[in-house]
Amino acid sequence: MLKNCYSFLKPSISSRLYGTVANKSIGSYAGVKNERGNYLATLIPGNGIGPEISDSVVKIFEAAKVPIEWESVEVTPIMIDGVTKLPQPAVDSIMKTKIALKDDVFSKIFLFYFKGPLMTPIGKGFVSLNLLLRRTFNLYANVRPCKSIPGYATLYENVDTVLIRENTEGEYSGIEHEVVEGVMQSIKLITSPASRRVARFAFEHALSTGRNHVTAIHKASIMKLSDGLFLQACLDISKEYPDVKLDSIILDRACMQIVKNPDAFSNTVMVMPNLYGDILSDMCAGLIGGLGLTPSGNIGKDASIFESVHGTAPDIAGKNLANPTALILSACMMLEHMNLGEKAFAIKNATLNTIAEGKFRTGDLGGSSSTSDFTSAIISNL
Ligand code: NAI
Repeated sequence: MLKNCYSFLKPSISSRLYGTVANKSIGSYAGVKNERGNYLATLIPGNGIGPEISDSVVKIFEAAKVPIEWESVEVTPIMIDGVTKLPQPAVDSIMKTKIALKDDVFSKIFLFYFKGPLMTPIGKGFVSLNLLLRRTFNLYANVRPCKSIPGYATLYENVDTVLIRENTEGEYSGIEHEVVEGVMQSIKLITSPASRRVARFAFEHALSTGRNHVTAIHKASIMKLSDGLFLQACLDISKEYPDVKLDSIILDRACMQIVKNPDAFSNTVMVMPNLYGDILSDMCAGLIGGLGLTPSGNIGKDASIFESVHGTAPDIAGKNLANPTALILSACMMLEHMNLGEKAFAIKNATLNTIAEGKFRTGDLGGSSSTSDFTSAIISNL
């Protein structure tokens, strides 16, 4: 068995895998344990393959003795008076827990949400549930790391990118209307507060991961006011971080350069408005072998949601074929955010070692293992 064949750690940051550890500047605080010595976390299994890959994470956490108690909630879209809402039982559960937390011994427990992919019905007027969750809990920074998986060959070697996407506004502000028949308008909203806080997050992330370099990605050459404001926010915030270098690059050039030589971006933290981050992060996922391998964290001031980048994969749902790696790595990001870096390290190593050994791999990685066999192999590598 390969042990410790691979580490995401850099020597100077021995307990940090992803640099999302909650701190004052980021605006989040790690929780305290309850009387059973466990943290509370909310689990949203999601739709499609979501329940299968969530089950895999729960089993691995149990085997690794992670001190977490899950509260599982369903989040299926509902429409009330033409407005998409989070389902009441889920809201009740979240609100109940929050309110309960305020008044008793658990008042400092930080509430984390951990979710599988969600399906938003198309053409029925629903607002994306993911957007709704991000807005409801003000999850302002979306962190998407992409690192080559040892033993799983792709066109590129040693990819190691970190992308931070502004998560609350920009092109996904949801402000759209019909001007006249045949003319639709979608408004891209960029504000100084949202740009500054995501820029600050990027600088904090650069410091905590030892990258010491931030690259702002933009189209200020064309969208002089909106992207210009985003870029200016990055410049302003950079003055608070004299030890972190800032540079900037326009989006199209960044795409070309990443595909040509991803290594050129391995020592920087990319930060950008919403839509650019959505597209560019999928492009980076493609460099390391696809969406089944890429984790993400949506970081907010009061709550954070960690999720795989992929969707519900309806074509393989319920067949025990899904690759749970992306959700497992997202769970590792969550652990690190909660200052449980050692558990994150152990689980991540067991997962990557299982893939590197090659005996148990799911279909998307060219293997024939089921989700449950792959999960058992990870547990035996813990
Ligand atoms: P998808 O990511 O669900 O699937 C694309 C392809 O990748 C499919 O062939 C699927 O089988 C494969 N795939 C995805 N994840 C996999 C995994 N873990 N293991 C093995 N194969 C995997 O994208 P698609 O089909 O465009 O979207 C399906 C649904 O997911 C839609 O309703 C969409 O709205 C939703 N979605 C939700 C997201 C979220 O909750 N974060 C993100 C993206 C899509």
